[in-house]
Amino acid sequence: MELPLEEILQKTKNVVLKAGEKVKEAFKSREIINSSVEDKESNPTDLVTAVDKEVENYIFSSLKELFPSFLLIGEETVSASESKKVILTDTPTWVIDPLDGTMNFVHGFPFVCICVGLVVKKEPVLGIIFNPILDEMYTGIKGKGSFMNDKKLPLIQNTPLKSLQRCLFITEYGYFLGQNELDIKVANAKSMLSLPSQVRSLGSCAMDMCQIAKGSADFYFEIGIHTWDLAAATVILRESGGVVVGYKRPKGIDNSIQIADEPFDLNGRKVLCIRGVIEGKEYQSKMLGEVRERLKDCEIESD
Ligand code: IPD
Repeated sequence: MELPLEEILQKTKNVVLKAGEKVKEAFKSREIINSSVEDKESNPTDLVTAVDKEVENYIFSSLKELFPSFLLIGEETVSASESKKVILTDTPTWVIDPLDGTMNFVHGFPFVCICVGLVVKKEPVLGIIFNPILDEMYTGIKGKGSFMNDKKLPLIQNTPLKSLQRCLFITEYGYFLGQNELDIKVANAKSMLSLPSQVRSLGSCAMDMCQIAKGSADFYFEIGIHTWDLAAATVILRESGGVVVGYKRPKGIDNSIQIADEPFDLNGRKVLCIRGVIEGKEYQSKMLGEVRERLKDCEIESD
């Protein structure tokens, strides 16, 4: 049976707007934030606050009531679980990051957002990303386009992408995963800088991907992101004409398949995106191939 995705989006948007009020309120109160910051698994750069937990609980209980047959996966519940694994099945599953950009949130840097994605048969089909500080609501439904505050994405159109030079790349260094990963991340950023091009970091994977969906930047790449950072953003970006892939061709995928048509592993912890371009998919595949040639890769445990 086909899911009524438009109706699901409207109901879920109301839940996310309410959650956004909680985030905005807390963002203003330095006291709440300062008194509730914890390090996750003793990693001093991966933070969690009482707000992350409260917002996740609120979204979980609201969505459970609205859609009792759907499963729920959230950043904070997975982190607290024994297996720490994200298990996606054929059943419709909400994948939620209650607060993407927790480090930003703690510092009052305004790129923070709530991410709610719906994944069916391991494919993201609906995404909502809300930044209540900047009042930006991004939505997307597979096959139905994506929007920012009801304006169709991309907002910036027809900027030529002639070569990798003079491009705007976005990458993140994430939380510290070890010296080897850090060296690779820095080398990858340097490789783009020396093209020459420029490189930005907003501190939130979902906000980064929304910039690519808007057409405000050309490429985004990162090692270390999680399924909950990506699920909602993947639909929004794809529906804007962008492409999301991994750092290399997935195993078992024939060379005759162009890069833009490769399947994307939401649990793979690596992401490379390109914005929509007027030349279409073949050109996106060519450009993604050129970026991949410059990207160093490393082993990392999947979600
Ligand atoms: C993090 C942010 C950050 C990225 C990390 C993510 P969180 O999410 O998206 O930009 O570099 O890889 O884990 O922990 O703030 O939800």
